[in-house]
Amino acid sequence: MAVERPLQRLPSGFAEFDRVLGGGLVPGALVLVGGDPGIGKSTLLLQSAQALAAITSVLYVSAEESAQQVRLRWSRLAPPGAGAAEQPVGADGAVPAGAGLQLLAETDLELVLQELEALRPAVAIIDSIQALHDDQLSSAPGSVAQVRECAGALQRLAKRQDTALLLVGHVTKEGMLAGPKVLEHLVDAVLTFEGDRFASHRLLRAVKNRFGATHELGLFEMRDRGLAEVTNPSELFLGHDGPAAGTATIVACEGTRSLVVELQALVSTTSYASPRRTATGIGINRLHQILAVLEKHMGLPLSRFDCYLAVAGGLGVEEPAADLGVAAAVVASYRDLTLPAGTVMVGELGLGGQLRPVGQLELRLQEAARLGFRRAVVPRGSGLGAIPAGLDLQLLEAATVAEALVAGLGFDPAAD
Ligand code: TYD
Ligand code: MG
Repeated sequence: MAVERPLQRLPSGFAEFDRVLGGGLVPGALVLVGGDPGIGKSTLLLQSAQALAAITSVLYVSAEESAQQVRLRWSRLAPPGAGAAEQPVGADGAVPAGAGLQLLAETDLELVLQELEALRPAVAIIDSIQALHDDQLSSAPGSVAQVRECAGALQRLAKRQDTALLLVGHVTKEGMLAGPKVLEHLVDAVLTFEGDRFASHRLLRAVKNRFGATHELGLFEMRDRGLAEVTNPSELFLGHDGPAAGTATIVACEGTRSLVVELQALVSTTSYASPRRTATGIGINRLHQILAVLEKHMGLPLSRFDCYLAVAGGLGVEEPAADLGVAAAVVASYRDLTLPAGTVMVGELGLGGQLRPVGQLELRLQEAARLGFRRAVVPRGSGLGAIPAGLDLQLLEAATVAEALVAGLGFDPAAD
C-alpha cells in the first residue's frame, strides 16, 4: 500500500505566488507559467529563484538571455517581500553566497537534461520552453513539435528525480497554439501572468491546478527593482477622484479574495445606424444583455445611445455579480447621476429584470466595509439574515434592478 506523504510545499518568497500555487510549490510538480512576452515572467521567476535558493537547491535555465545578462538583471532585483526597496543580492550582483542557486544559459535540450541529471535540484526553472530545442527534431525552436518534445523530456526526468519544474511559456501572436496551450494536459498547474502593458500591476492566476483551487488571484506591481506584492489590492481598482457621474463600485470575488472595483460607463447619443458598444474588462455579450434588460424593464431607450464600459485598472470581471454595478454605471451616465459616495452595488441581473443573490456576499461586504464603504445595495433574500457582526454598513435590499437603482442611485423612473 502506498503511503501518502503530506505535501511539504516550498515557499516562493511571494505570498501572492504561493496563494496561486495553492500554498507554495509542491515538490516534483510541473508548473507552466504563461503570459505575453515582456509581462514579467522572467522577473517573477528570478526573484522566486532567489528566495527558493535560500532554502533548497535551484537550477535556473536561461534559454533566452546570456548568463551575463541574467546576472546583470539579478543584481537589480530586490528579493521578494523586501518591498522592492531594500538591499539587493550580493553587492556585486553575484548570486548570494551560500545560496543553492545555479545558473545555466543553454538552449540545447540535451545539455539541459544532462545538467538537471547531474545537479538533481529540488527546483528547476526553464525560461522559456519555446527557446529550447531538441536537435533530434528538424522543426524550428518554438514549434509545436519542439515545445511538446522538450517539455515531455524534461517532465520525465523531473518526475524521476522529484524535481519541481517551472516552465515559462510565452503566449504567441498566433494565440496559445505553439505556446502554453499544447502543454496544458501535460502539466500539474497552469498559471497565467497578465497585465495591462500601460499599467504597472500584474495579475497571476491559476487556470488549472492539481494541487490547489483555480481562480486564485495573485497581485503584483512591476517596479524598477522588480515585482513587489500588492498588499491592498482594492486600491488598484478604485478611482482616485471620488464618485463621478457614470461610475459605480462593485465587489468582485476572485478565488478566496474579494476586490472592490470601479466601473465606468459612457452613454451618448449615437450617430451610427446601429449604436456602438464596447466593453473593457467584461464580456461584450454581458453588456448587450444588461442594456437589453434596462431597455425592456425600465423603458430606457438605450438602443439610440452608444455605450462604452470599462473596468478600472484593467481587471477582467467575469462573474455575473457585477451586473448590477454595470447597470448602475450605465444608468448613471445616461441620466448624468452620481452615486452617493461610499456605495457598492452587488447583484446578478435576471433577464426579467429581477436581482439574483450572489455567492460570498459576506466576504464582499467585509471588504467594502474595510475600505470605508458605508452602503451596499444587494439582492433581496440574499440569505444574509443579519448584517454580520461588527460590519458598519447600511444594507439596501432590492428585488429588481429598478428598485436597486432607485434605492442606490436615487434614480427617478418617471423622469424620462
Ligand atoms: P520580463 O520579466 O523580462 O518579461 P518576460 O520574461 O515575461 O518576457 O519583464 C520585462 C519587462 O519588465 C521589461 O519591459 C522591463 C520591465 N521591468 C521593470 O519594469 N522593472 C524591473 O525591475 C525589471 C527586471 C523589468
Ligand atoms: Mg523572459
